[in-house]
Amino acid sequence: MSSKQLILNGSPNKDGFSMTVANAIFPNTITLHAYDLTIAACDDCKLCHHTLGCKYHDDIDQVLKHFKPCDHLIIVSPIYFGALTDQLLKLFNRFQMLFEAKFTHQKPLFNISQLTLISTCAAKEHSMFAGATLTRDILASLFDSKQVHTLLLNNTDEIDDILITYEKEIVKFKKSVNPWQD
Ligand SMILES: Cc1cc2nc3c(=O)[nH]c(=O)nc-3n(C[C@H](O)[C@H](O)[C@H](O)COP(=O)(O)O)c2cc1C
Repeated sequence: MSSKQLILNGSPNKDGFSMTVANAIFPNTITLHAYDLTIAACDDCKLCHHTLGCKYHDDIDQVLKHFKPCDHLIIVSPIYFGALTDQLLKLFNRFQMLFEAKFTHQKPLFNISQLTLISTCAAKEHSMFAGATLTRDILASLFDSKQVHTLLLNNTDEIDDILITYEKEIVKFKKSVNPWQD
């Protein structure tokens, strides 16, 4: 059976801490960069509550095309003000149409069996990741994800090379997600 992985990168820095970790764990993976996408903001017009679909057709169509089929969605993002980045959340807010399709119209459009969250933040407190993990849980419910993996790496202001500082955590995480790989 073929398996399709997709990275959704919420960092504006393609070679920043978060993507450096993601690329080390999931090399050669198709990646969509949220900051390269033009996405209209959801304005809660309720169209998707009454019928399937969305009034906007923009780069979200490209994202949804990648979901068909996708069995492992890897969300990568730094923490901005206690949450995933604004551009990534703008994209996720547009998933409201998927939420309505599934829970109001009983027509789930996509199931994604595995969901991974990789996030980094500057603060020392792990509580900084609370917003990101709640969003992860909402997405797991939306996509009916059976396996959820999470790697949260903090204190990045004090770090030069994240792959060296967190080598042990990254190796362990990689094994837990892909036990058959080196
Ligand atoms: C606009 C902005 C907001 C941020 N807000 C937070 C925050 O609330 N908490 C925190 O710990 N770090 C915060 N940071 C720091 C980033 O999360 C941190 O530098 C992260 O590791 C950058 O990841 P990247 O290199 O993958 O983009 C913020 C950075 C920026 C630019």
